[in-house]
Amino acid sequence: MSVLVAGGAGYIGSHAVHQLLDQGKQPVVIDNLRTGHKASLPKGAVFYEGDIRDREFMKSVFRRKRIKQVLMFAAHSLVGESMEKPLEYYDNNVFGTQVLLETMVEFGVRDIVFSSTAAVYGEPAEVPIKENAPTMPESPYGETKLGMENMMKWSGTAHGLRYVSLRYFNVAGARLNGRVGEDHRPETHLVPIILQAALGQREAITIFGDDYPTRDGTCIRDYVHVEDLISAHLQALDYLQKGGSSDVFNLGSNEGFSVKEMIETARQVTGRDIPEQRGERRPGDPARLIASSEKAKKVLGWEPKRTDVENIIRDAWNWHRKNPQGYGGI
Ligand code: UFG
Repeated sequence: MSVLVAGGAGYIGSHAVHQLLDQGKQPVVIDNLRTGHKASLPKGAVFYEGDIRDREFMKSVFRRKRIKQVLMFAAHSLVGESMEKPLEYYDNNVFGTQVLLETMVEFGVRDIVFSSTAAVYGEPAEVPIKENAPTMPESPYGETKLGMENMMKWSGTAHGLRYVSLRYFNVAGARLNGRVGEDHRPETHLVPIILQAALGQREAITIFGDDYPTRDGTCIRDYVHVEDLISAHLQALDYLQKGGSSDVFNLGSNEGFSVKEMIETARQVTGRDIPEQRGERRPGDPARLIASSEKAKKVLGWEPKRTDVENIIRDAWNWHRKNPQGYGGI
């Protein structure tokens, strides 16, 4: 029995593929390689290149492999880009999920674990954010992810589909062996950009705004290690297999770190000089996002092991130092 990993060649999906193989499971990866990297996949993984919006492609994969459960990572995921290209986000994220769910229903596949986001909450009234906080997305990205969650909910009511939606906060870090890590083109995420500055690939890290109402004026985020994040996905697959009901969980660390604190920690971990410069606020950035992940711990038995910012940065640094050109150098 196989686990379909949609978007399995992306940063987060590829970590899932490796952990599935570690656990003796059989991942079947699909990815259109628009942002994913084939080089991130381990040798034993079955891979089909194609797009989740392509009905014939999807059917052909489900016909060829006996898919038991689905991990869904295939989506566009940048808040800023979604403001400029909302329709592309609806097409890829919402329509893509529609085709995936249609295919699951047609082939009688019941369980899906879905990659959702803190962006479904918008600017929170209070932190840490619990799962029952109001969902008021402030970008097409957050809106499409919420729409995808709702599509799964209604498919559950009508067709018996069961889902776990995992709302990620800020994911960073890399696999311990330094062979799998983050490589977005162009890179927009804080941790890899700080480390590119540490490597001298950028002149400096630009801090997007230092006049937020936070302890040092810079934005506060909740960072979760990608390997811990994936452990929660595998636990969610088990939970669904054992008959757990559809549900939504936050994945974070219950702690917030400011942009300046992240840069300072990176200086300590890398021992490198990391020049910083002050820039304008980035539109759409909430001042403070911190998750309450108590529910995932209680219900799924999630126990993050490497989720503290030093480990996150150390593991990411290991990847960046070994692969300064990302997958381009492999
Ligand atoms: N930042 C900088 N300089 C940079 C890059 C980022 O100061 O060069 C700041 C941002 O302004 C923000 C923080 O660092 O305050 C983190 O930014 P990221 O771009 O790394 O992450 P985001 O919090 O914007 O986004 C992440 C995920 C999204 C998800 C969102 C949920 O990448 O997919 O969390 O709010 F939607």
